[in-house]
Amino acid sequence: MAAVIEVKEVSFRYGENDADVLKNVNVTIEQGEWVSILGPNGSGKSTLAKFFNALLVPGKGEVVSCGLSTGRESNWTAVRRQVGMVFQNPDNQIVAPTVQDDVAFGLENAGIPFKEMEKRVAENIDQLGLNGLENEEPHRLSGGQKQRVAIAGAMALHPRVLVFDEAMSMLDPNGKQEVLQMMHTLRREHDMTIISITHDVEEALSADRLLVLYEGKVLASGSPSAVLEDAALLEEAKLMPPFARRLQQKLAGRGIFLPAAVLRDEELVQQLCRLKQTT
Ligand SMILES: Nc1ncnc2c1ncn2[C@@H]1O[C@H](COP(=O)(O)OP(=O)(O)OP(=O)(O)O)[C@@H](O)[C@H]1O
Ligand SMILES: [Mg+2]
Repeated sequence: MAAVIEVKEVSFRYGENDADVLKNVNVTIEQGEWVSILGPNGSGKSTLAKFFNALLVPGKGEVVSCGLSTGRESNWTAVRRQVGMVFQNPDNQIVAPTVQDDVAFGLENAGIPFKEMEKRVAENIDQLGLNGLENEEPHRLSGGQKQRVAIAGAMALHPRVLVFDEAMSMLDPNGKQEVLQMMHTLRREHDMTIISITHDVEEALSADRLLVLYEGKVLASGSPSAVLEDAALLEEAKLMPPFARRLQQKLAGRGIFLPAAVLRDEELVQQLCRLKQTT
């Protein structure tokens, strides 16, 4: 596998007199990987993400995104074309008067031919459940609908890397599942790399690898099971284990032991059923 994002010894502070928000961070993300970044409020997740597409550039250290060093201004346009980003607040991302135009905006800027643009806009509006809202004014939609518009616009561009910074926080559970399924499909069909920043450990279970940030440092990097089964690490990073794991721990406290560690609800149900059969 080839690295698509390399963050090398990056330290960063917003103001000269501020403390470092990132402290000697080293991160490598491989092409096609799905990485979730977890960490408490203020740990530096959004700041780190802004280095991936040159919204921030390091004073100290280097970031190479899609083979291009972001330290060179002449690389910024090419980097941003390949690294798409969806933020938490959809209001800041709405740029056009209708849903349809908003989804088309990035495609138009990227010079995608009209026929292809029409196809992708319709496809993404459909996949994000925005049918019937094509001609609505985006600012009149609900928070979750606006997030869907922002996600549709970013996905339509088929970027090489797609960064979600808490971009699903307003989606209802079904909506979240649908978007996660689409992300799996996009990754498979376009060999897309996905980086999702989230407070939702259930969402993080979709990832191949979790990065845990704490006070501007990378505290851990590993598979979801390696990270989420490490109680000491979770406590240090002030993270809560997934629901299934917490219930397993509560059951153990009452003398009911499941045969193996569980992280997902389906695993919990399976093991509870097995337990029932053997008792
Ligand atoms: N524009 C800014 N100017 C000054 N300080 C900032 C700015 N943006 C963030 N910070 C500070 O940098 C630190 C890290 O913020 P960041 O937004 O990266 O955290 P985060 O992990 O994304 O948190 P959250 O989970 O709340 O989104 C915080 O202490 C924050 O106050
Ligand atoms: Mg943030």
